[in-house]
Amino acid sequence: MHNESGQWTVVDNIGALVTNDPEVGAGRLGVIRDAAVVLGDGLIQWVGPRSRLPEGSTGTRVDLEGRAALPGFVDSHAHLVFGGERSEEFAARMTGAPYSAGGIRTTIAATRAATDAALSANVTRLVTEALRTGTTTIETKSGYGQTVADELRSLEIASRHTSETTLLAAHVTPPEFAGRTDDYVRLVIDEMIPACAPHASWIDVFCEEGAFDENQSRAVLEAGIAAGLTPRVHGNQLSYGAGVRLAAELGAASVDHVTYTTDADVEALAASTTVATLLPGADFSTRNKYPDARALLDAGVTVALAADCNPGTCYTTSIPFCIALAVREMHMSPDEAVWAATAGGAAALRRNDIGAIRVGARADLIALDAPSHLYLAYRPGVALVREIWKDGHRL
Ligand code: NIG
Ligand code: FE
Repeated sequence: MHNESGQWTVVDNIGALVTNDPEVGAGRLGVIRDAAVVLGDGLIQWVGPRSRLPEGSTGTRVDLEGRAALPGFVDSHAHLVFGGERSEEFAARMTGAPYSAGGIRTTIAATRAATDAALSANVTRLVTEALRTGTTTIETKSGYGQTVADELRSLEIASRHTSETTLLAAHVTPPEFAGRTDDYVRLVIDEMIPACAPHASWIDVFCEEGAFDENQSRAVLEAGIAAGLTPRVHGNQLSYGAGVRLAAELGAASVDHVTYTTDADVEALAASTTVATLLPGADFSTRNKYPDARALLDAGVTVALAADCNPGTCYTTSIPFCIALAVREMHMSPDEAVWAATAGGAAALRRNDIGAIRVGARADLIALDAPSHLYLAYRPGVALVREIWKDGHRL
């Protein structure tokens, strides 16, 4: 190890470190007891038991006094570029009104009316809020613009805050295309994808009754693929349908929600490389049922957890909240939930430089005010994230 810059940090006296590297620690989470991590030049430079910390490890020393540490959360699903809010819609839902995709149009109107500065300030606020609860990487989508100009500016604004940007022009048919969804799909394919592809990594579609059907979804995803984007899908959120199978068939990086699944859906995912990204916060805030996480995990599907922050179905940025829900409501073990919110999120974004504490990975690390990662589910609603390093910088 050569600390030429003199700027390295030794995070020492970690009671239990989740590495997500089974080669260096116990279990799938690769937990190392009494660990240390050396951060430098934005990367993990060394990790292991503190008794083996290399002689002469210099730099700032941070003593965690036996607390737990883990990789920063990787939130692979968020909708942060929006105007307005929908608290009244939420209140109505909590007293019996059902959720429908139509609520998205309220946010489309507010987003179109918002200035660039207001949209950008909203993203800053939410990215900062997410970071404070340990999210060091967050994806974000367009999808509340629904004109070429508004989708484009949504992605331009998102790109200022994250490298993980997704074109979700096919979120819902906007009001001026009411009853003409096929015409809107043509606009997405002929104009939005060509204009927006340079500003996004991913193409997404809301494949659901009331949004886009299987053929429309397939056409959008295939056009995105042809423009160099990698597919991800909002699928099977509100009802059984084609989303999960379409994602698996097209080799999507991820299919998200996955709340209504048949055995055939689970089998299709298990036979694919597509990650199932579960969003229990959305199911919580829409009084939906929860996904059958056990069936997915037991079939060998890679499962990620994400917060799905958006003003309609889930206005939270808190991954610890989602971990608690996943454990209580979806019967994931605390270990499975923590893996899904770190390494699982990284898999959903096809990233191998985040989601694990291993030499050469990004120095994105969080420490808890707790002796183990189990406390994330064991102490729900408590602000446990005490220290955050992003790219080696302490917040
Ligand atoms: O992921 N399912 C579709 N999109 C969002 C909700 C959007 C909204 O209601 O504003 C979601 O839950
Ligand atoms: Fe979503």
